[in-house]
Amino acid sequence: MANSRWTLVYEGFEPAQEGLREALCTLGNGYFATRGAAEESAADDVHYPGTYLAGGYNRLSTDIAGRVVENEDLVNLPNWLPLRFRPEDGDWINLRRVDILAYRQELDLGGGILERKVRIRDDHGRETSLLSRRLVHMGRPHLAAIAITLRPENWSGQLVVRTALDGRIINGGVERYRPLASKPLVPLETHMLGDDGMLLFTETSQSRLRIAEAARTRIYEGDDVLSVACENHEKEGYVGQELRFAVAEGRPVTIEKTVAIFTSRDRAISEPRQAAIEALEQAERFDVLLDSHRHAWRALWNRCDIAIEQGSRTQMILRLHIFHLLQTASPNTIDLDTGVPARGLHGEAYRGHIFWDELFILPYLNFHLPEISRALLLYRYRRLPEARRLAREAGYQGAMYPWQSGSSGREESQTLHLNPRSGRWTPDNTHLQRHVSAAVASNVWRYWQTTGDLGFLSWYGAEMLIEIARFWASIATYDEAFGRYQIGGVMGPDEFHDRYPWRDTPGLDNNAYTNVMAVWVLRRAAEVLDHVGIERRRELENLLGLTSDETKRWDDIARKMRLVFLEDGIIAQFEGYERLEELDWQAYREKYSDIHRLDRILEAEGDTVNRYKASKQPDVLMLFYVFSYDELRELIVPLGYAFEPDAIQKNIDYYLRRTSDGSTLSRVVQSWVLARGDRSRSWDLFVTALESDISDIQGGTTAEGIHLGAMAGTVDLVERGQTALEFRDDTLWISPCLPTKLRRLRLNLLYQGDWLHLDVGCDRLTVSAPHGWKGPAKIGVRNQVYPFAAGTVLEFDCEVVHGGWRPVWQSPDKSAPDDRPDSGVTEPEGSEEGLDAKPASQRGTRRSSSADANG
Ligand code: BGC
Repeated sequence: MANSRWTLVYEGFEPAQEGLREALCTLGNGYFATRGAAEESAADDVHYPGTYLAGGYNRLSTDIAGRVVENEDLVNLPNWLPLRFRPEDGDWINLRRVDILAYRQELDLGGGILERKVRIRDDHGRETSLLSRRLVHMGRPHLAAIAITLRPENWSGQLVVRTALDGRIINGGVERYRPLASKPLVPLETHMLGDDGMLLFTETSQSRLRIAEAARTRIYEGDDVLSVACENHEKEGYVGQELRFAVAEGRPVTIEKTVAIFTSRDRAISEPRQAAIEALEQAERFDVLLDSHRHAWRALWNRCDIAIEQGSRTQMILRLHIFHLLQTASPNTIDLDTGVPARGLHGEAYRGHIFWDELFILPYLNFHLPEISRALLLYRYRRLPEARRLAREAGYQGAMYPWQSGSSGREESQTLHLNPRSGRWTPDNTHLQRHVSAAVASNVWRYWQTTGDLGFLSWYGAEMLIEIARFWASIATYDEAFGRYQIGGVMGPDEFHDRYPWRDTPGLDNNAYTNVMAVWVLRRAAEVLDHVGIERRRELENLLGLTSDETKRWDDIARKMRLVFLEDGIIAQFEGYERLEELDWQAYREKYSDIHRLDRILEAEGDTVNRYKASKQPDVLMLFYVFSYDELRELIVPLGYAFEPDAIQKNIDYYLRRTSDGSTLSRVVQSWVLARGDRSRSWDLFVTALESDISDIQGGTTAEGIHLGAMAGTVDLVERGQTALEFRDDTLWISPCLPTKLRRLRLNLLYQGDWLHLDVGCDRLTVSAPHGWKGPAKIGVRNQVYPFAAGTVLEFDCEVVHGGWRPVWQSPDKSAPDDRPDSGVTEPEGSEEGLDAKPASQRGTRRSSSADANG
């Protein structure tokens, strides 16, 4: 696989790789996304064309393993891609039945374009070249378009093209779900629209989501529309046309298919069918759409790019991750009332549900597109009543968010889990991961810290924090014997442990991550009232019936929460952890080629992973991922426990040896926690995390949807992890510690409405805020603090000997060095060199007369 810094390239057609490529070549715009399946393909053992709408769910029930289970899924919308062709006297072109003379597929990350160049020879010896280009418009979110240019190389004759909108499809993208009900679409209407258009109208069976797709197909020779013989086909749930026209050797023709998609969830429309027809009427030709689409992407990259000086593959994958994040959550998502599905809008795994993965995703969005973070948090706010109901039903107070969330915010976690190894359905207790509520609270807080959006905090965030704090206060019980509070019957992030081998009921006690997060929430909820102003504080106290007795209890819990320790400062993942057995990792590695999913292996052997000190993903280490050492100290020491700096390394060493990496989030966390202590190992883990999807390191899961938490996590690892960027004590702290293989890193961040530019090299660091700065007036680099203000350009040298950063010059020059953020946002189009391509004179830092920055 060749690639440049902006392009994912596949050479050659490889059926076995197609599922993976389809997921990775998905095009989307935050409103909907379509997998990169070939236009001529249909769902079979090689291909899976899928189109998913953000927030487009439906529920279906199935009788299975002796009970009725109900699942809510992100619906596979009618397939708008179909575009097949054949010479009049030949078969429909199928890449598996012709000679492929050339094949190259490219995903242009800068412009959001999927391109396929193919040359084939059929069994009559006819050679045809085809160039297909596809876009899902980033600026006009209801539009998508395909242009296929065909050139008969050595023949002339009649060509037949079949174009269609196909609603006779199912949700069949994940093999393990196949025993479950999978037909969400009910056909409503089909229509032809003039000579070259058609409309398909369907509805989902339970959520009654109405979906209108309108398509226009035209054949062009240059600028002229070819007149074609046309046959219309309308069946239940399907509408199509067969177009016949003459082609001549060496003369290219272009088939353009333009599609408009609207649904009954849309705003600012009267009715989806009418909206789709009108949008289609207004849609220009492919190249015009391409222009405005590229423009929209360019604006996004200008805010979002992170330029690194490293191999072009690393840079490309980093951009691929940003690209897929932006395709799932973009400015078009803002009014849609959706969260970020863990597997993007790229496949059907996890049914399009929303998990705690936003904890890994929002930090990046906060710094680049905070309006999207706000929208994602409002999705949670609107489901606060449901979270309250979930808490009540479980016997608690406040708000308990579901582990898996879909349309309404009810708990969507499955109750049974199929182990594909053993073929057995076993109970799924993952809903006991109550820590998801802490993740919601953390996202609220960090959004506010990064943006300074007090309006949000005051109207929405504070209520969420208080209600989540109430939940933690009610789930915590006082244990007289220890004189401490404890939390029982939960699961931590490590999904291998859902119960004690010696106990009948599921759930574990005093999971360290959960308990510390609960303490953190209780502290922030008490603090939030100080930020919202006295009027709002009174309002909230009245509206929520919040009393000082209640906040006193929060304080009591936050000072007396129980943590369990193993020997030598190791935090026990949960109480009783020491009673588990050590796993013979070596033996399992020898016996099985892949032990990521030890839980399934052991279950298939008639054993259970619950018996062992073996984790799917780091659980205790999450604490070092979420909090800096100082933050963690401030939480743990007041509890009366010792927490020395060397505890971190000891915990890392202990748990890394006992983790199987069954989740793609695992390596992100590990790389992060090692970033300071073991740079080279951290880098290796980062590289593996980067490869998670592009190389499908879990052996087949990416085809079912990308892992967005890990994708965003790797980007955040570079952005915050490598720079140790932190806003603390009214100071902006930066303490870069680049791994030796990462030579330079440039990015722009939005902090409280102003852009901060960072240029981090191995021996030089430049920080500037050219246009304005409402953030802290101090910047801390390593342990030194300097004044910082709008117009300041601070540059530091790295004194390798002392391992520190020494300021070499500072410009208090208030004049803006440049008129736009300069991040190493290289021009997406055509720039192969990325970071190195831009002359220093354009990079926006200007030396002024030097001044001692040791202020
Ligand atoms: C992980 C969870 C994650 C979920 C969705 C699971 O494999 O264990 O932590 O939330 O995938 O990405």
